[in-house]
Amino acid sequence: MTQTHTITVEPLGREVECREDQTILDACLRSGVWLPHSCTHGTCATCKADVLDGDVDHGAASTFALMDYERDEGKLLPCTACPRSDVTIEADIDVDESIEVFPVQDYTGTVIELTEIARDTVRLVIGLDREIGFNAGQYLKFQVPARDGLPAVDRTWSIASPPTEPRELEFHIRNVPGGRGTDGWVFGGLTLGDTVSVSGPYGRFVLKTDDDRHAILVGGGTGLAPLKSMIRHALEDGAYDGRLTLYQGARSREWLYDVEFFRSLAGEFPDQFTYRPCLSEETAGEVGSDASAYGYGMVTDVIATDHATLNGCAGYLCGPPPMVDAALKTLMGKRLFPRDIHREDFFNEGDKATGGVRSPLIKR
Ligand SMILES: Cc1cc2nc3c(=O)[nH]c(=O)nc-3n(C[C@H](O)[C@H](O)[C@H](O)COP(=O)(O)OP(=O)(O)OC[C@H]3O[C@@H](n4cnc5c(N)ncnc54)[C@H](O)[C@@H]3O)c2cc1C
Ligand code: FES
Repeated sequence: MTQTHTITVEPLGREVECREDQTILDACLRSGVWLPHSCTHGTCATCKADVLDGDVDHGAASTFALMDYERDEGKLLPCTACPRSDVTIEADIDVDESIEVFPVQDYTGTVIELTEIARDTVRLVIGLDREIGFNAGQYLKFQVPARDGLPAVDRTWSIASPPTEPRELEFHIRNVPGGRGTDGWVFGGLTLGDTVSVSGPYGRFVLKTDDDRHAILVGGGTGLAPLKSMIRHALEDGAYDGRLTLYQGARSREWLYDVEFFRSLAGEFPDQFTYRPCLSEETAGEVGSDASAYGYGMVTDVIATDHATLNGCAGYLCGPPPMVDAALKTLMGKRLFPRDIHREDFFNEGDKATGGVRSPLIKR
C-alpha cells in the first residue's frame, strides 16, 4: 500500500494527509485547503513555497520554475512535489473573498458534443456524472489515456460555460501538432459517447464578482474559453455589475469562433458589454462588407488605439504566454496596476522544457 504522510500548511496550521504518489497541492485542494496555484504542472512558479521541515521529491518541476539553488534553499512547487516524510510547508496564502473554495473531486464525463468551430479548434461538451461547483474562469484536468506504450497523462482545459450549468461543461480546445492530449487524443480519436475522467476545479483565474470596475478581457485563440464562462456568468446570471469589454484576438476569421454568440450578447446588453474581435493577419479590404465589425492589427494595438487610459479598470488576460505578456505590457502602459491584472497562461509541456515562468509582477 502507498505510504501516507502528514502535511502541515503554515501559516494556516492546517494538516492534511498526502500519499507518497500524490502531489502536496492535490492533497491540499482535495481537503479544501486553498494554496495559490495556476498551471498545476510545475511550469509557472505561482505555487512556490518553503519547506520548513521534512523531505519531498520535486517530481516534474521545471528547472526554470524551481532552480537548483532554490531546491537547495528549501523551496518546493507543491503542484509537483510529493512527500517522502511528514512535511511542513509555508505558503504565501492570500485568501481572496470572491473565490469560493470548491474542494477538488474526481468526476466521470461523457462526450456529448465534439464540433469543429474554427481552424484546428473544437468545442467539446461533456456531461458529468454529478454536479460540480466552480468559479467562472477555473479549469479541469482531463486524464489522457495511456496509448502506444506511453503512460496516461493529465491535461488542463478551461471551462467555457458558467457555474450555473454544473453538469454540462463546455471546453474549447486548439490542436497542438505532436501534443499528447490534443493531436493524440481529442483530435486523434475521441468521439461522441466516450467516457472521460476529469478532476477539478483548479485555478485562480476567476471573475472577481465583488468588483464593479470596467473589466477588459483579452483572449487569444482558445484563451477565449474562461472569458466566455466569466462573461456569461456576469451577464446572463447577473453576477457582475460593471462593464465588460471583450477583445478576441485571432490571425484571421477562420481562427475566430463564437462571433455571432458574442455579437448577440452585445445586442442584448448594450450598456454593459462591448465585443471587439481583432484580426492580426487580415485587412479591412480582405474582409469586405463586414469590415467595420473587426479591429485590425495585434489585439494589443487595437486596445492601445481604443483607450487613452485604462486607469480604474481591471484586466483579465488569457491565452498563449507571449500574447498574455504583450497584453500585460499594453495594459500597464495604459496605467493599469499589476494588482488589477489577472492572467492565465496556456503553458504546455514544451514550455516546461524551455522556460515559461510568469512575470513576478503578477501574483494573481
Ligand atoms: C491553466 C491552463 C488552462 C488551459 N486551458 C486551455 C484551453 O481551455 N484550451 C486549450 O486549447 N488549451 C488550454 N491549455 C493548454 C493545454 O493544457 C495543453 O497544454 C494544450 O492543449 C496542449 O496539450 P497537448 O497534450 O496536446 O500537448 P503537449 O503534449 O503538452 O505538447 C505541447 C507541445 O510541446 C511539445 N513537447 C512535449 N513535450 C516536450 C518536451 N519534453 N520538450 C520539448 N517539447 C515538448 C510537443 O511536441 C508539442 O508541440 C491550458 C493550459 C493551462 C496551463
Ligand atoms: S502551479 Fe505550481 S508551478 Fe504552476
